Amino acid sequence: MCGIVGAIAERNITAILLEGLKRLEYRGYDSAGLAVLDASGALRRLRRSGKVAELESAQREAELGGRLGIAHTRWATHGAPCERNAHPHFSGDDLAVVHNGIIENHEALRRQLKADGYVFSSDTDTEVIVHLLHQKLDELGDLTVALKAAVKALHGAYGLAVVSARQPDRILAARSGSPLVVGLGLGENFLASDQLALRQVTDRFMYLEEGDIAEIRRDSVQVWNQAGDAVNREVVQYHEGAEAADKGEFRHFMLKEIHEQPKVVQRTLEGRLAQDHVLIEAFGPTAAELFARVRNVQIVACGTSYHAGMVARYWIEELAGIPCQVEVASEFRYRKVVVQPDSLFVTISQSGETADTLAALRNAKAAGYLASLAICNVGTSSLVRESDLTLLTQAGPEIGVASTKAFTTQLVALMLLTLSLGRARGALAADVERELVDELRRLPTRLGEALAMDPTIEKVAENFAEKQHTLFLGRGEQYPVAMEGALKLKEISYIHAEAYPAGELKHGPLALVDSHMPVVTVAPNNELLEKLKSNLQEVRARGGELIVFADGSAGIEDGEGTVLVKMPHIHDALSPILYTVPLQLLSYHVAVLRGTDVDQPRNLAKSVTVE
Ligand code: G6P
Repeated sequence: MCGIVGAIAERNITAILLEGLKRLEYRGYDSAGLAVLDASGALRRLRRSGKVAELESAQREAELGGRLGIAHTRWATHGAPCERNAHPHFSGDDLAVVHNGIIENHEALRRQLKADGYVFSSDTDTEVIVHLLHQKLDELGDLTVALKAAVKALHGAYGLAVVSARQPDRILAARSGSPLVVGLGLGENFLASDQLALRQVTDRFMYLEEGDIAEIRRDSVQVWNQAGDAVNREVVQYHEGAEAADKGEFRHFMLKEIHEQPKVVQRTLEGRLAQDHVLIEAFGPTAAELFARVRNVQIVACGTSYHAGMVARYWIEELAGIPCQVEVASEFRYRKVVVQPDSLFVTISQSGETADTLAALRNAKAAGYLASLAICNVGTSSLVRESDLTLLTQAGPEIGVASTKAFTTQLVALMLLTLSLGRARGALAADVERELVDELRRLPTRLGEALAMDPTIEKVAENFAEKQHTLFLGRGEQYPVAMEGALKLKEISYIHAEAYPAGELKHGPLALVDSHMPVVTVAPNNELLEKLKSNLQEVRARGGELIVFADGSAGIEDGEGTVLVKMPHIHDALSPILYTVPLQLLSYHVAVLRGTDVDQPRNLAKSVTVE
């Protein structure tokens, strides 16, 4: 989604701004812009629709340079994606603002500012911020004081960066509902919506909290909290390898991230397993006592993370014996929910900044849940900071918009949760836990075996290149795996793909099946296999073409109208993690064959920080 970068230094900062924007490109955007204070003390702006590369070449031509500046990649919410609506937005010629988020009362503010004589040049909600700030600056004379006053009138979500030619010694930042991080250098300082944008210039970061306002000067950073009190925010040293934003030997980030799965699954297990059981303390010091009280689990998430929650529901009910509901956050947050006594509220999110998931968590706090637990990939995210308990997935930065390694590590974390809840509740036999802990230890090797099937899957992908529609089938905990497979295919290949629980086929979707509609099925050798085989017969009888991913011992035959891909053997409970891998590879190869933008598919964003 939208990205912010800012810099104040004694050197020319345009290259830093542009590199930062490029590092945020993966989040999805439709235009980009920057504003820099030039040597004459004038604030100059460049904006372009399309990729950051367009902005970069415009910057080269304009030879724009300076020591203070802010930049932005935009993903349109209010106003079409075009240059006029791209950030930074100006008021007069000496004040510039970039903004992530949505200002909900922008219409009322716009009316009022127009009545006061301000002329608007864009259709964005953001432009009200810059004019409002301009008004306050004229009134109060100091940019920091003016920003503190202006944000009081804003309703909605924002991460803001502000520069002004009137006070060229500072960048101002304000955070409410949209993350911001200050990067600390030597005699220079930076600002971004994600530390990834600044990894080239520093490894020391200060995360702003909700309601914070920061004044960033070349050699100092001052922060005020929501109440207006001066506060110190902790400085965190970042250790993750800088290689994360590099594709290495792979053609796309998505392929690289698919192949990282054995390693990151291993990392997600590290330090969390004892010889024969899961270490409940991995969820926090109070987890053991808390989990023993849990009588119900409510999971809330979006997109791929929601599918992880759907798998976990089967696990938690079967292995931990606890009722579990799963819902997409955008529905949950607006629904009157009846909270069962002693319910654990679980959010799942790669980014930890998804607006709907965060809003659901905030609502849940007032709703009487026992506690909140975040399963998240970003330790410094809002979701983690606002939850009582956390289990971090160790997937490392995920750059491809279509989530892959984040999903499988979420499943591993959810299996750890299931086993911990099962033991804390006394519902899980010790030998079952021991067996599953052993299986978890073997999982990275199994995933490596599934990845070795890549050339086979690349061939299977040829069946899809010309197709317009596909059906994905699964039963039990493989149904959400089918959902995730369908989501991957539609996200990056733009082929219409739907997932159905196989038993539901005869109640509608069978009408669609013909030789033009491939049907993909995941079929581990579990107790539902015989029923699934009957469902497959229903497809074959209508001339449908089957692509089946199945255990070698499942007794499904390759042949007329059926392409069989034999999978390594795996314990039933862990099969959703393993069977996800070939579906990821399938989508990837289909997308490559169709020539789409695999890492940055059209219309999508990596992290959806607006509603
Ligand atoms: C976007 C991404 C998806 C992701 C979803 C939830 O739609 O494109 O890949 O699954 O957001 O994101 P989260 O960061 O909360 O897991």
